[in-house]
Amino acid sequence: MKAAIMLANNEPMVIEDVNLADPGDNEVHVKWGATGVCHSDVSIWQGKLPLPPPAILGHEGAGVVVSAGKNDYGLETGDHVIGSFVPTCGECFYCKNDQAFVCEKALEIGMGRFPFSRQDGSPLLCGPGGLATFAEETVVHEAALVKIPGDFSLEQAALVGCGVTTGVGAALFAAEVKAGSTCVVIGCGGVGQAVIQGCRVAGAGQIIAVDLNESKRSASINFGATHSVNPNDEDLGEFVKGLTDGRGADYAFEVVGVPELQRQAYDITRPGGSVIWVGIPSYLDECSIPSALLPLENKRIVGTIYGSANVRTDFVKFINFAKEGKLDLEGMVSQRIKLEDVNDAFTAMLEGDVIRSVITYD
Ligand SMILES: NC(=O)c1ccc[n+]([C@@H]2O[C@H](COP(=O)([O-])OP(=O)(O)OC[C@H]3O[C@@H](n4cnc5c(N)ncnc54)[C@H](O)[C@@H]3O)[C@@H](O)[C@H]2O)c1
Ligand SMILES: [Zn+2]
Ligand SMILES: [Zn+2]
Repeated sequence: MKAAIMLANNEPMVIEDVNLADPGDNEVHVKWGATGVCHSDVSIWQGKLPLPPPAILGHEGAGVVVSAGKNDYGLETGDHVIGSFVPTCGECFYCKNDQAFVCEKALEIGMGRFPFSRQDGSPLLCGPGGLATFAEETVVHEAALVKIPGDFSLEQAALVGCGVTTGVGAALFAAEVKAGSTCVVIGCGGVGQAVIQGCRVAGAGQIIAVDLNESKRSASINFGATHSVNPNDEDLGEFVKGLTDGRGADYAFEVVGVPELQRQAYDITRPGGSVIWVGIPSYLDECSIPSALLPLENKRIVGTIYGSANVRTDFVKFINFAKEGKLDLEGMVSQRIKLEDVNDAFTAMLEGDVIRSVITYD
């Protein structure tokens, strides 16, 4: 069984045959159908988010259950599932208080297991959730899987596993965008385009897409943006003021992961408005905010992981949105590739050319 292994930060991943343990109690053997390539994997590979190599990355996947040990969710052979990169234990303070996206057992459940080993027997770490979607198959804790209907494309379901839920949830659950409002989305990759779609679903009046890349700006119009801006050509703050009687945005989303852009999102938001930080900078970065103006202007800065969504119900909710035509997931797939091309997908992402590369497995 093949997997892409990160042997060192910033070095090409290598494809190797790996060993996979049998599932124990509460564990499930999954054959992935498809996985998206998300920027968070690139950030781990670059060392901006800590995960010591050798490791198998990939956290945006959907697949089919091969076999399951005794498990509480009743998962059975043949079930279609999406991986949740934040496993939800269902029992901790956060899971019981509707904030399973910060489940306190998530790291232990996801990454405290070593089902993969190399041919020499040495163990491999897995990325977020323990999902290891850059392997053809995996063995994960049941808490990291959500059953979905069997009649939905695994390719599109994979995107629901991170980018779609993160972006749409950021608009609907973290920001709670109001109908008629003005939203700015800085960074229009896979997650940013999903934020734009979430703002459209919420009924936003104006959605301003901001990206350096021309193809991302033009694609944003198909997903619901009403305006697009190249921040190198125009002063974003002045552009937003021009559309809001000089006030600024009601909601500004940062979806790149750069402290200067987090600050820019703050600056272009009107008094009383909301700034939503979705992008994840390097874990050592900090962002400076004018500490008197934050209260004086009654602004709100909201951090959000996984779109502040409840994966146990919202994965299927977003699949239904796609079935009803409210979300365009097909349009988010820029290219379909094989596992062997994963390094090229990282390069394409860093050069800004793809919304999502999706690895499909046979
Ligand atoms: N909070 C979460 O739960 C969560 C989940 C998934 C991803 N993320 C983070 O969200 C961010 C985006 O992820 P993605 O997969 O969409 O990445 P991506 O690489 O597909 O998209 C980033 C976009 O930002 C654009 N960009 C780069 N510099 C810019 C600038 N100076 N101004 C405007 N646009 C600029 C790029 O052209 C690209 O289109 C990453 O930081 C990722 O780690 C967060
Ligand atoms: Zn992701
Ligand atoms: Zn929990």
